[in-house]
Amino acid sequence: MDIAYFNGNFLPKDDIKISPDDRGFLFADGIYEVIRWYEGFFFDMEGHMLRLKRSMKEIRISWPEADAYPSVAYELIVRNNLQNTPSLIYLQITRGAATRSHAFPSPAVNLTVYSFAKGLRPDKEKTSAGIGAILRKDIRWSRCDIKSVSLLPNILSFQEAMDAGCHECIFVKDGLITECAHSNVFFVIDGVLHTHPESEDILSGITRKNVLHLAHDAGIPVSLTAVPETRLKDISEAFITNTSLEITPVISIDNKKVGDGKPGPVTRLLREKFDAEIRAFKG
Ligand code: PDD
Repeated sequence: MDIAYFNGNFLPKDDIKISPDDRGFLFADGIYEVIRWYEGFFFDMEGHMLRLKRSMKEIRISWPEADAYPSVAYELIVRNNLQNTPSLIYLQITRGAATRSHAFPSPAVNLTVYSFAKGLRPDKEKTSAGIGAILRKDIRWSRCDIKSVSLLPNILSFQEAMDAGCHECIFVKDGLITECAHSNVFFVIDGVLHTHPESEDILSGITRKNVLHLAHDAGIPVSLTAVPETRLKDISEAFITNTSLEITPVISIDNKKVGDGKPGPVTRLLREKFDAEIRAFKG
């Protein structure tokens, strides 16, 4: 039986009861994080905690126990016997349960805090051979920097990609590429690695940040500028980044090959550097 964390307790997942008046359920009034466990350590827990705190501040909730969360996450790994299994930890915090009203509950009610761990089977075939993506209008709200649980535009777009036999949807906003349904996106143009700068139009990905460090260390020129849709014809490589798929090559966009339709040298180099970094952390 899976053991999850719920409002201060570790419980069998099936025993958890959440109120139908929870504002997460009624309004998607909450935020979340997804953190990777690499059989021995959490990847950049500090970065995830900083992003979590930022999301909470932006939606005006405060969780005084936030600093104790890394030990909760570890406890979830142990209680679910995942120490030696690649895993993801999910954490969601909502504004709590209260009679439905757009206004924040007054007086404030207890937050709802839910976290679980799940084993992950990294799809090495997909992540090394690459995926197809579709390109669609970015139909999300204008605060994509907040890791909000309100993901309807993301899931509709992602499903559209799946229905087209692809594995990601790349978003275009006002003619510029922002990011994807559940990842950031990078392009290589004339040997320069491009990705959207941090702004309210993208989530500041933990993997994105790490890839930028790796690129810097490898001497790969980087431009933090949004790529116009019209320049897609000039790209030689593309890849997406997120916590579970790490660095995954994109080999086609809307059925058109990227470069020669195979993962390119910059992508392969960054993937090697990423793997080496994980191996080094494992010691
Ligand atoms: N998604 N952009 C969006 C919209 C995302 O949802 C994610 C992550 C990222 C990449 O962030 P990171 O590198 O910190 O995982 C970018 C997670 C994995 C999810 O929703 O499951």
